[in-house]
Amino acid sequence: MKGKATVLCENCVFSNIGAIAEHGWAVFIETNQGNYLFDTGQGKAIINNARYFKKDLSTIKGIIISHHHMDHSGGLLSVLEETGKVNVYSHPDLFKDSYSIRGGNEKFIGIPFRREVLESRGAKFKFNTDFKEIEPNLLLSGEVPRKTKFEKGDKRLLLKSKKGYVKDPIFDDQTLVISTKKGLIIILGCSHAGIINILNYVIQKTGQQNIHAIIGGTHLGPATEEIKEKSIQALKKFDIEKIGVSHCTGLETSMRLFQEFRDRFFFCNVGTVIEI
Ligand SMILES: [Fe+2]
Ligand SMILES: [Fe+2]
Repeated sequence: MKGKATVLCENCVFSNIGAIAEHGWAVFIETNQGNYLFDTGQGKAIINNARYFKKDLSTIKGIIISHHHMDHSGGLLSVLEETGKVNVYSHPDLFKDSYSIRGGNEKFIGIPFRREVLESRGAKFKFNTDFKEIEPNLLLSGEVPRKTKFEKGDKRLLLKSKKGYVKDPIFDDQTLVISTKKGLIIILGCSHAGIINILNYVIQKTGQQNIHAIIGGTHLGPATEEIKEKSIQALKKFDIEKIGVSHCTGLETSMRLFQEFRDRFFFCNVGTVIEI
C-alpha cells in the first residue's frame, strides 16, 4: 500500500493559519487502494481542516472509529454529510453510555449521536471485535489482549452500572495498521488498551517487527508515573524508526519521549503528513 496520511484533527496546530486545533484526533489516509478517514475529532475542526488541507471527504471509501469517545467520534455526523453512504468500521461497543468524573463533576464522553441518526445519514456500520483486514495491507486490530502487568487503564473513565460507576475497560479501543514496504505504520486512537499491549499484539498478528512509524494518542499524558516510565522503557525495545506522538500524550510526556527517541521523534499535529 502506498500514499500519505494527513492529520486533520489534533490538540495543536502550528503555522497553518486557518486550520483549527481541538482536543481530538483524525487522520485522512490517501492510498492507491482508496481514501480512508481514521477518527473524526470532536466535530469542530474536521470540516474546516479538510477544506484547508484540500482533502475531499466525499472521496472516502471507509471511516474507521478507533473507540467511542467523543473526541474521536464527535465529527462523524458532519463527515457523513459529505460522504453520504459509507462503511463505518468500529467495535460494537461504540454506543455505550460512558462518563468521566473530574473535580467531582460527571461528564458524558461517549459518541454524541444515536445509531439510527447516523444510519439515516448514510453510515453502514461494520462492527468487529477480532483483528480485521479492511483491505489488503489495511488492518484493524480489534480488541487488544491486555497482557502487560503495568498497563492498568484510566480509572477516571467510567461506565454506569446498577452498582454505580465502574471502570470502563474500553475493550472497543482499536488501532489501524498499514503494512508497507518500509514497515508497519501504526495509527493509534487513544491507546486505552495500553501502547505496549497494542504493539505486541500488532507484531503477533502481522508477523512483522519493523515499525516504520507510530502516530496518534498514547494516553501516556494522563497515565500514572509508573505506567508512563515502564511504557517508555518498554517502547525503547521495539524496532521503531519514527514516533510521532499526539493528542493524549501530553506535552510533558512528549518531551520525555523526545529525550529518549531524539531524531526518531516528531510532533504529529494538525497538518503533519506521513508518507506511506
Ligand atoms: Fe482521545
Ligand atoms: Fe479516548
